[in-house]
Amino acid sequence: MKGKKVLITGGLGFIGSNLAHRCLELGAEVTVYDCLDPLSGGNMYNLHGIENSLRLVVNDIRSMEGISSCIRGQELLFNCAAYTSHPNSMREPLIDIDVNCKGTINILESARRFNPEIKLVHIGTSTQTGKMCYSPVDEKHPEFPLDIYSANKTASEKYVLVYASAYKMRTTVVRLANVFGPRSNIKTPDLGFMNYFIGLALQGKAMTVYGEGAQLRNVTCVHDCVEALVAASASPVSDGEVFFAVGDRQFSVAEIARGIAEHVGGEVRFVDWPKERQVIDIGDAVISNEKIRKALGWEPKLTLAGGLAKTREYFAPVLGKYL
Ligand SMILES: NC(=O)c1ccc[n+]([C@@H]2O[C@H](COP(=O)([O-])OP(=O)(O)OC[C@H]3O[C@@H](n4cnc5c(N)ncnc54)[C@H](O)[C@@H]3O)[C@@H](O)[C@H]2O)c1
Repeated sequence: MKGKKVLITGGLGFIGSNLAHRCLELGAEVTVYDCLDPLSGGNMYNLHGIENSLRLVVNDIRSMEGISSCIRGQELLFNCAAYTSHPNSMREPLIDIDVNCKGTINILESARRFNPEIKLVHIGTSTQTGKMCYSPVDEKHPEFPLDIYSANKTASEKYVLVYASAYKMRTTVVRLANVFGPRSNIKTPDLGFMNYFIGLALQGKAMTVYGEGAQLRNVTCVHDCVEALVAASASPVSDGEVFFAVGDRQFSVAEIARGIAEHVGGEVRFVDWPKERQVIDIGDAVISNEKIRKALGWEPKLTLAGGLAKTREYFAPVLGKYL
């Protein structure tokens, strides 16, 4: 990473900004490209402390011209820009297609035309698989997504892989699941329950769990995700491949909520499922990280309790910047 020219699309968001901090620590020259979409986790404060150490381009991945003008001369591209909400994708499916599908194609086409040697790491999501056909889910599991966001993430992942097979470009996909940690959007339930629960807990409020909260989830602290993205960017072994980079253990949603109450604050309440949420819930999701462990030597380092402690430490003094 030292001295590498790195472009991070979506670098004002949760995962992209943590990645920007880490790439700078590792000695990279970083450009962040982000349109600060108001419905996303984008937040200018996420670059606090590093704003003068990188280049920020405020623009949209839906602009072919914009992305093309930034891609020349870059060595690594992390695509962390997306329309990231499951419920918003059901309300606004056309916007979701524009950002997640056309936006990804714009990035791939710009790379093919102006910088075909670039290494591109794209982020996928565990919800692409839909309901489990077998357990644990691995990278060969069928994909039957249950919401438009996940369907479009499936499509965009396949575009990324087509550019590897058809044009021999160096592209790879790292699929993540239930990422939590510093710099996340903690004020809306629309961007994943876990960071929202953390936000409620930080304010001493109640977390509402639907049904019994029995669905199992792999959870991953963002610090571990960032290391997985860096590992994928550094190795030719990842070219043309898909990896699940997820935490080792599965917890039920109720266990996660209780863990947050214990390590961050607040309390847990149980209510009946709202219909519109139940139809897009994937049930249990038990995912294996064996492939990335073997191929790239990555493994998650943080436990749920350790990750929650780091998250509380980060947010407590700067809560106002995130609410
Ligand atoms: N957070 C999770 O638990 C999780 C799980 C699985 C996959 N992912 C994936 O990880 C990636 C990053 O997600 P995140 O959690 O950091 O989300 P986020 O919402 O915090 O960040 C997304 C960023 O992309 C930017 N963006 C949105 N539309 C854009 C556009 N058209 N042009 C330029 N920038 C745009 C936003 O302004 C925001 O800064 C996404 O691809 C998401 O699908 C996240």
